[in-house]
Order: sequence, then C-alpha cells, then structure tokens
Amino acid sequence: MPSGTRIVEFDRPDMAVGTHTVAEAWARVNPPLSPQEREFQKDRVRRLLKSRNAALVAHYYVDADIQDLAEETGGCVSDSLEMARFGRDHAADTLVVSGVRFMGETAKILSPEKRILMPDLDATCSLDLGCDPVAFAAFRAQHPDRTVVVYANTSAAVKAQADWMVTSSIGLDIVAELHRQGQKILWAPDRHLGSYIQRETGADMVLWQGSCTVHDEFKGIELDLMRKEHPGALVLVHPESPASVVAQADVVGSTSRLLAAVTESPATTFIVATDQGLLHKMRLAAPGKTFIAAPTAGESATCKSCAHCPWMAMNSLKGVADALEFGTNEIRLDPALGRQAKVCIDRMLDFAAARRRDTRPGPDLAREQALFSGIGPA
Ligand code: 13P
Ligand code: SF4
Repeated sequence: MPSGTRIVEFDRPDMAVGTHTVAEAWARVNPPLSPQEREFQKDRVRRLLKSRNAALVAHYYVDADIQDLAEETGGCVSDSLEMARFGRDHAADTLVVSGVRFMGETAKILSPEKRILMPDLDATCSLDLGCDPVAFAAFRAQHPDRTVVVYANTSAAVKAQADWMVTSSIGLDIVAELHRQGQKILWAPDRHLGSYIQRETGADMVLWQGSCTVHDEFKGIELDLMRKEHPGALVLVHPESPASVVAQADVVGSTSRLLAAVTESPATTFIVATDQGLLHKMRLAAPGKTFIAAPTAGESATCKSCAHCPWMAMNSLKGVADALEFGTNEIRLDPALGRQAKVCIDRMLDFAAARRRDTRPGPDLAREQALFSGIGPA
C-alpha cells in the first residue's frame, strides 16, 4: 500500500440516522408493487413530470420501470457522466434524479437555479460514506505536491477540495493526460478504480482506500470457473471491481461502455461484472443475446450472483411520484460550497467535450476494435 493511505470502512457508525449500512438500506427498500399499483404510479409520474415541467434523470442501476419512464418521457437513463451533462443542459425547471445522493448533488452543483428532487435523500453510496471530508482534508495535507483527483461518488464537501472530478468513463483519460504533463496524483476514494488507472497509465498515485460494497464482492476465482463453463463469453467488468476480476475482462469501463459492448461485439454471450440493474438495458439493446451475472460468491452460497446496490434499490416509482407531487426530498446545498465543488466538475466536463470533438481513434479504441473483430486476447 502506498505510504499515507489509510483503510476506511463504508459503515459510518458515528452518523446517528439514515442508511449507512447495507442492512439499513435493504430494510428501506419497498416490496414489489402489484401490477395495478405499478401502472397507477407510472401514470402519476407521467402526469406530474408534465405538470411540473420536470425531467427524470435515472441511472442504469435503478428500478427498470423508472429507467423506462425516464426514456419514454424525454429524460435520460445513463452513466454518471452523462447524467451530469444531461441535467445541466436540460431546460426543465425541476430534475428528478433517480440514483444516489452524489448524483443529485452533482446536478444541483451544476444547475443551482434548478429544483433537484430525489426519490429518497438517504440513498447514498459506500464510497461517499467512506470518504469523510475532514479526514480527506488531513490526507490531502500529507501530500501538498499532488494534483487531487476525486471520483464522482463523493460528497460536495470532498469535491470542493479537488482539482479534478472524474467518473469511470473518463478517469483513465484524465489521469493519463495529467501523468503526461508530469503531475503526481492523489486519488480518492475507490481503491480498485484508482489502482486500475494506476496500472493502465503508470501514473504516480497515492490512493484513498475506499471501495464500492457491491463491486468489491466480485470473486476472481469464481469468475475464472464461470469463464471455463462459457468459453465463448465476453467478460464485461466495471473498474470498481477487484484487480483479480478486472484482469479477466475483455472490456473494462463505465456502465455506458459495458452497455455499448453488447451491441458492438459479435459475441452472443456475456458475463457481466457490475450491478444487475444494467442487465435490463442490455437485454433491451441485444434481445437475442445471453447475459450471465458474474459471481459474487461460490456454489454453496445462498446467492451466487447477487450484485445489486441497496441504495440504488431504495429508488421507487412511488418515491419519484411523491417527490414530484409534494416537492419533498429536495437537494439543498450551501451555494458557496456548490461554487467551490463546481470547479472540478466543470474541468471534467470541458475535458470530455474536447475529447468528443477529437475523433481520432486512440490506442484503446484500436485495441477494442481488434477484440471485437475476433483477433484480440482470448
Ligand atoms: P458509472 O458512472 O459507470 O455509471 O458508475 C456509477 C456507479 O456508481 C457505479 O457503481
Ligand atoms: Fe456506490 Fe457501489 Fe452503489 Fe455505485 S454500486 S452507488 S459505487 S455503492
């Protein structure tokens, strides 16, 4: 472990209320709705989105009905980078952000004039919980010579201390560029994503030792066995997963990147190492193909492949409709903190916009093209 790093747990027993453990979050997840109740709540959401001039911005891990409604009503369902960009650029007065707390906060930071509502403000993230802003400030003070790069999955108070914010879809490119410029990096909070970027770029990085409680569960040995059972399958891995899992991936990337791979690749079977919420969109995008959830435990376990984020699962159809109807669960941020946190997010969005304008295929794209035409690594 690099010097100056510390182990942090995602549970925050010091915080008296809320859903700071996986068990507390699961206890808050609503039971499935009856077919009639589902239709009733969907109609409420459709009607209220219109009457409140609101847009629904959802992450791929939330309830399939919420994802479908977001798309049907002209909102968006996407990864966290696109959620931020879409929310910022949309003309609606109100955004309902269905995802976890940092996604709502990012929307508010980027659009302070908009009303940002969430189905449940207690829907958080183990990475955010594991990166206390005061402890992070002390960590930063130990490394004053380093450029501070934080993952999107952090609080506004941590972002306000950063030079750059990145998401999983752009983190590698940004750190590669900073490394090319000779900068040394302080990275927080996800240790797996940080060490993946470190291995890929060769950058000098010190890492905060947080983790995603969902992706951290994927097991390299079990995945190896699963791959042997499905020799033709393409392995898709989110980089919040442990190194032993990433090492077996054919494609490593953000949720959007993994979704794109199922249509771009000629493969017909995919082993997917990310939250199972993404399988909904994958099945819609490639209906004839087979998707197998990567293993989080061995054969004898009660649940062999059970990667699902409890905080994402707290997002319910009724929660979306109630937030719209009653204006509850509004994100409120100290404007000065928001302005400070915005600096690192704007930098990332500007970098991403410049990258999109540059259409030259880079080495990664060339490697993936080779893979998809069947001549990449097995
Ligand atoms: P993406 O930006 O890849 O959608 O990831 C967000 C997240 O929380 C993954 O666990
Ligand atoms: Fe956070 Fe992991 Fe849930 Fe994503 S899946 S929101 S990283 S706990």
